[in-house]
Amino acid sequence: MHTELERAFDLTGRTAVVTGAAGGIGRRTCVTLAQAGADVVLTDVDESGLGETAGAVRDLGRTATVVPADVTDRTAVDALAQTALDAHGRIDVWANVAGVIRYGTVVDTREEDLDLIFDINVKGTYWGCAAAARAMTPRGSGSIINVASTGMDSASPGISCYAMSKAAVATLTRTLAAEVGPQGVRVNTVAPGWVPTGMTARYWTNDDGTVDEAKREQIYADRASHAPLGTIGEPSDIALAILYLAADASRFVTGQVLRANGGVSMA
Ligand SMILES: NC(=O)c1ccc[n+]([C@@H]2O[C@H](COP(=O)([O-])OP(=O)(O)OC[C@H]3O[C@@H](n4cnc5c(N)ncnc54)[C@H](O)[C@@H]3O)[C@@H](O)[C@H]2O)c1
Repeated sequence: MHTELERAFDLTGRTAVVTGAAGGIGRRTCVTLAQAGADVVLTDVDESGLGETAGAVRDLGRTATVVPADVTDRTAVDALAQTALDAHGRIDVWANVAGVIRYGTVVDTREEDLDLIFDINVKGTYWGCAAAARAMTPRGSGSIINVASTGMDSASPGISCYAMSKAAVATLTRTLAAEVGPQGVRVNTVAPGWVPTGMTARYWTNDDGTVDEAKREQIYADRASHAPLGTIGEPSDIALAILYLAADASRFVTGQVLRANGGVSMA
């Protein structure tokens, strides 16, 4: 590859903070950013999962700093940023990947599910954005990447709380991009389509933890049939979109939603 292109995607010497780092997309994001040369600061509420992700980053020869934290806790998120700065001296990339989904029609949704989704998906992303922007603006550079969902574009029954939360993430992205652009910081959203992770595996996982292969195959085929590209995605498809937004390759891109979804929605 031409060195100019290599430079555009090179994160050597940079530090990336990734929330939701124990999950399917978060783990792959940590690995992809480390493959591009970044040292990674990983956070999640799942401590054993964090250990696995950290091992994968270290296997690539990069530094992994593990900071278990709940993204709904503003103090903990601020402390995460401080730990990253203490350990690495800088934060160049901050990916807000942590998120949850709960299902229920508007008529039936319980208040605790609405609150949980907004606490994690909206407030958690908000605190991450605030901490990242505070660390990046004095240096005059940085890239913040928020994770929304194709769900925010569609009128799918049963996901109103989730869809609203992800629309809020995209709106937050635009506002923050306008606020911190003059200080050299970019803010973008990746809106993934359906990819197999712990979040989606519940569809084909039996109560005893075994996998219903036939159901899994049927769900994969059904999801693929809704996409113009005729396929479902993988966590790596989302991680590569995040890499693009993290790297200098996207230096002219801010306030945008990158829909990595096989064409399921094109808004
Ligand atoms: N998998 C998909 O099809 C899909 C599609 C669109 C968007 N997304 C979004 O991608 C992101 C990652 O999802 P995933 O598919 O990897 O799911 P996942 O369940 O594998 O990972 C989510 C991670 O977030 C962590 N988390 C949850 N609450 C947290 C909290 N309060 N503090 C810190 N960490 C917390 C979980 O422990 C988990 O490791 C989410 O924001 C999700 O909404 C996923």
